[in-house]
Amino acid sequence: MDMLAMQLVRTYGAEVLDSPEFRKAKEQKHHHVTTVGDHSLGVAYVSVKICRFLNAMHIKTDTESIVRGALCHDLGIVGRYEKFSNNLVCWQKHPKESVRVAGELLGDLNEREKDMIRHHMWPTTPVPPHCREGYVIVIADKYCAVREVTARMKEKYKKKKESDRVS
Ligand SMILES: [Fe+2]
Ligand SMILES: [Fe+2]
Repeated sequence: MDMLAMQLVRTYGAEVLDSPEFRKAKEQKHHHVTTVGDHSLGVAYVSVKICRFLNAMHIKTDTESIVRGALCHDLGIVGRYEKFSNNLVCWQKHPKESVRVAGELLGDLNEREKDMIRHHMWPTTPVPPHCREGYVIVIADKYCAVREVTARMKEKYKKKKESDRVS
């Protein structure tokens, strides 16, 4: 664990992390093995690590906005079964809903934060982000999603092996 990266997430993300919206996000399952909140925390952490790598190469990024954007990018998914009629609609519409929720939560959401949340699903949605920070979240989000889905597959495989051994 990169303690400095985690500390930056906690500092820049304090307002989101302490909100009732984020508490709700920690209660809703996501990708079967995690919650929307823990997934978002993971995306923020990986995003900060990418930022530190870019900064070391003299490529500047707005780390504070990235943390806020990453923590909010999937908040629109919270309550998905009441908000969206099916998974496809949720897939397409949750980024816009996340911008709305983040705007209510933070009040002073800047244009860069709106853009990175709005376009985080790219390239599975047509419009790419318009700022470097948006691409950081795109990469971190996909990385975390693959890791979560792989963890689920591993868990299933382990269970199957155990049941094969018993029978
Ligand atoms: Fe998403
Ligand atoms: Fe996500």
